[in-house]
Amino acid sequence: MRTQVGIIGAGPAGLFLSHLLFREGIDCVVLEARSRAHIEGRVRAGVLEQGTVDLMRELGLDARLRRECMIDNALDIRFRDGLIHLDLPALSAGKCATIYGQQEVVKDLVAARLADGAPIAFEAEVAALDGIETAAPAIRYRVDGRDETLACDMIAGCDGFHGVSRGAFPPGALTTYDRIFPFGWLGILSESPPIREMTYINHAHGFALCSRRSPRVSRHYLQVAADEDPDRWSDARFWDELAVRLGAGAGELVTGRIFQKGVTPVRSFVAAPMRHGRLFLAGDAAHIVPPTGAKGLNLAIADVRVLARALVEFFRTGASARLDRYSDTCLKRVWKTVRYSTYMTRLLHRFDADSPFDRQLQLAELAYVAGSRTGQAMIAENYVGLPFEDE
Ligand code: FAD
Ligand code: DHB
Repeated sequence: MRTQVGIIGAGPAGLFLSHLLFREGIDCVVLEARSRAHIEGRVRAGVLEQGTVDLMRELGLDARLRRECMIDNALDIRFRDGLIHLDLPALSAGKCATIYGQQEVVKDLVAARLADGAPIAFEAEVAALDGIETAAPAIRYRVDGRDETLACDMIAGCDGFHGVSRGAFPPGALTTYDRIFPFGWLGILSESPPIREMTYINHAHGFALCSRRSPRVSRHYLQVAADEDPDRWSDARFWDELAVRLGAGAGELVTGRIFQKGVTPVRSFVAAPMRHGRLFLAGDAAHIVPPTGAKGLNLAIADVRVLARALVEFFRTGASARLDRYSDTCLKRVWKTVRYSTYMTRLLHRFDADSPFDRQLQLAELAYVAGSRTGQAMIAENYVGLPFEDE
């Protein structure tokens, strides 16, 4: 098989890239290791920046989103000494965030691509990349028990943190930056109406977050040990602990059946540069950020906007200037996002190694934000999404 752009991975990065290229008439094939049912059922992020929603609209992929999403006009932070209420549009020139589950985005993008008659090979696991330093790279993968090769002009490694693309860089070509936080997030989905606002909580027991997916489905998180076994958390234990951390007022927290549960690591990782020869990394394949701030999915999409534009320029004109600055352009946003996600993580979690001095600093930072429009605006403008680089 042969194509112009071989895309490894049908997560948000690979799927958005495939649509951005398709609309410009550039041929691509998406190779995905897992089944369609698996990727459509994988519960992950749920907060979309304005730019992500705008891109879905531009691509004509937002019909179901507009019907089913929830608009987030505010973000609350509760802490020992009070409540910070961020009015997002007032603090960010009219912008807001949109709640719509990542797996719903994936379902919409898969359905639209297949309806376009464009290929996604499911259960096609990429094993190796050949010739990435040449003008004729190739992807070796296994499907239906057979070994196949996809010849292409360019390869987009959109295969997530555990994919193979990053490992295809030659030794010494990548610098990696890594910070692993000493805790994880236990996330649940429940059949229960959400509380009024998206609420982040700094509590002496640890961080908690009350989010939602729909008027009848809540998404909540608790800070737990990094190696926590989710099965140690019965529904009753989860609800009791969340009520304590939230400081729930009477009737505020409605409980319900928990139907999904999992622990997510809290980690930053950046690999640079994001390109070697004809291989371009995008999304989690190149970087992950702590979940505090809900940026991972949005950052993946910001990468492929830049990549699509650069590939279009290359295939139309032969010019490689945008491809040459792809990595530098993306890394600017990546590091700003690492900064923001680290700030929010530091602000809101319990750090067991903290001294009493550190804890006072954390409370002072919260008190500063509570009383400062500038402090609040910094959080709000990052939460709704910074302007794109390289417009
Ligand atoms: P992925 O979504 O990981 O997609 C990569 C795809 O590549 C996968 O479908 C995978 O099956 C495929 N693949 C891997 N290896 C191969 C191979 N060898 N051959 C072919 N295909 C391959 N972000 C938030 O903003 N908020 C959250 O609450 C949040 N929660 C998360 C919870 C979990 C458990 C995880 C893992 C991530 C979470 N994230 C969250 C981060 C966010 O989901 C990711 O940033 C986002 O999925 C990145 O998209 P991606 O397309 O780069 O990678
Ligand atoms: C959600 C996830 C996040 O990481 C976050 O900061 C806010 C909300 C969510 O899954 O809804």
